[in-house]
Amino acid sequence: MPLLLVRNDITRMTVDAIVNAANPSLLGGGGVDGAIHRAAGPELLAECRTLGGCKTGEAKLTKGYRLPARYVIHTVGPIWHGGRFGEEHLLRSCYRRSLELAVEQGCETVAFPLISSGVYGYPKAEAFRVAADTVARFLEDHELTVYLVLFDRVAAYLGDRFGNVQSFIDDAYAEEELQKPKNQYAARWAREPREDTGKIWREEARPCEAAPKPAPKRPNPLASETDRELDDLLRQLDEGFSKTLLRLIDEKGMTDVQCYKRANIDRKLFSKIRSDPNYKPSKTTAVAFALALELTLPETQSLLARAGYTLSHSYLADIVVETCIEKGIFSVLDVNELLFSYDQPLLGS
Ligand code: APR
Repeated sequence: MPLLLVRNDITRMTVDAIVNAANPSLLGGGGVDGAIHRAAGPELLAECRTLGGCKTGEAKLTKGYRLPARYVIHTVGPIWHGGRFGEEHLLRSCYRRSLELAVEQGCETVAFPLISSGVYGYPKAEAFRVAADTVARFLEDHELTVYLVLFDRVAAYLGDRFGNVQSFIDDAYAEEELQKPKNQYAARWAREPREDTGKIWREEARPCEAAPKPAPKRPNPLASETDRELDDLLRQLDEGFSKTLLRLIDEKGMTDVQCYKRANIDRKLFSKIRSDPNYKPSKTTAVAFALALELTLPETQSLLARAGYTLSHSYLADIVVETCIEKGIFSVLDVNELLFSYDQPLLGS
């Protein structure tokens, strides 16, 4: 199930549980701790007083009171002392224990702030990497939707994780912008309300020349190997997105579960795609599967074409994806970090 990055105030998140970056007393503080207590009201502090504090790396659950979230999971992150005093282990424990509590409570949606990355001084890029990796591992075995709520510009979290990828993206997009006739209506790859219409719009699937229907061939028992390969190829030309995806999963030796989890797609959506040969996924879903399957650029374009899409240098999001594929960055989470840093829609469910 998906791990999603959002830029928001965690106290506004309408989820089953939000996680609080607390201190061992659990009696409130500044930062996100203070914001949560202010939004939840005095009843939260009253309940916290009954908990007897919380150890670093541990987590305790309370009600959410006046918050839109039903519960608050209070966890205490490590104070950063340079990284050689078990800070990463303790930080991972915060995320794992909080998620375990959420699952025990029957939560389906959980929102985390970036624990320890404020007052406690954990470097943000490192804190982000540890958070994303710990949550992603937990989600391999659990069906949950987790939001990582980022309060600052994403650049602060990326650090130099992607090396020169961002400069490739910036150059390619700048190049494209220079080529473009001043067309201020160039649609971005985004689903966003249009001021003028207020309606959600999405990029029109590009009219993709449907592959010419191959002439029905009579099976030729004497067909040579090449003819048989040609038969396979012609059969594949006819495949819809769903059939192509399932064939590629088999060819890659993956299981369905491995593929949709790597694609950051939830089980329900995958079941829809699997059961409907004519299912048309969103572009972000189709691209997510291409990355999960680690397809090359031509293979990605071929898979997208089955759903009527294409990657084009006219869209910043497409340039980000293309650059990642060319650089061998197939982790949907990593690509989402980059998309998020460019304010582009994320891949997956
Ligand atoms: N929503 C989401 N994220 C927020 C919010 C908010 N309303 N307010 C702050 N943040 C972000 C910060 O930008 C930072 O990235 O949460 C992250 C964690 O910062 P802190 O709240 O300072 O938490 P932490 O670094 O874990 O320090 C905990 O600070 O507030 C005290 O009582 C708390 O002593 C404890 C210490």
